[in-house]
Amino acid sequence: MSESESTRKNFPDWENLYKSQSVETMPWYNERFDFDLERELDQREIIANGKKILDLGTGPATQAIWLVKRGFNVIGSDLSEAAINRARKVYASEKTVNFIVDNILNTKLKSNEFDYIFDRGCFHVLSPRDRKEYINKVKRILKDNGILFLKCFSDKEPNN
Ligand SMILES: C[S@@+](CC[C@H](N)C(=O)[O-])C[C@H]1O[C@@H](n2cnc3c(N)ncnc32)[C@H](O)[C@@H]1O
Repeated sequence: MSESESTRKNFPDWENLYKSQSVETMPWYNERFDFDLERELDQREIIANGKKILDLGTGPATQAIWLVKRGFNVIGSDLSEAAINRARKVYASEKTVNFIVDNILNTKLKSNEFDYIFDRGCFHVLSPRDRKEYINKVKRILKDNGILFLKCFSDKEPNN
């Protein structure tokens, strides 16, 4: 077994998961604004001013909606069509968010599109062998001097 195979986690089938389980029961579900992101935005004095941010691997889309409330122009992307269909339905009244089905490893998003990218848990669930491609794609879709807020890994899961 190669090193990357031996360090791979058990990845859920995201589409089946979002089809079969309510998002509120998922361990990453968080109705509140992510405290690390909130602190970063405040400490760096980032004023949204309609700037464009991608909530990468948006899933339940709770963070995308907090970013809308902060004044960002938000795109929420996810591999799972079921997750995106749900988010479109639940947040249909939000006018400054768009939800799209997109695999970051094969993204159709335009180059230099985003001022910011927030990723809470997507990089975290990628196979180690896909991490380099993730970085390439994120670099392509971020504007020059754009910022990636990456939330991943935990000392409770030391094998990442
Ligand atoms: C741990 S969940 C986090 C969801 C959300 N960011 C949150 O904080 O509630 C990881 C999410 O990444 C999505 N995902 C996994 N691989 C992906 C990929 N290659 N491209 C886009 N999304 C992906 C999954 O469908 C899932 O919704």
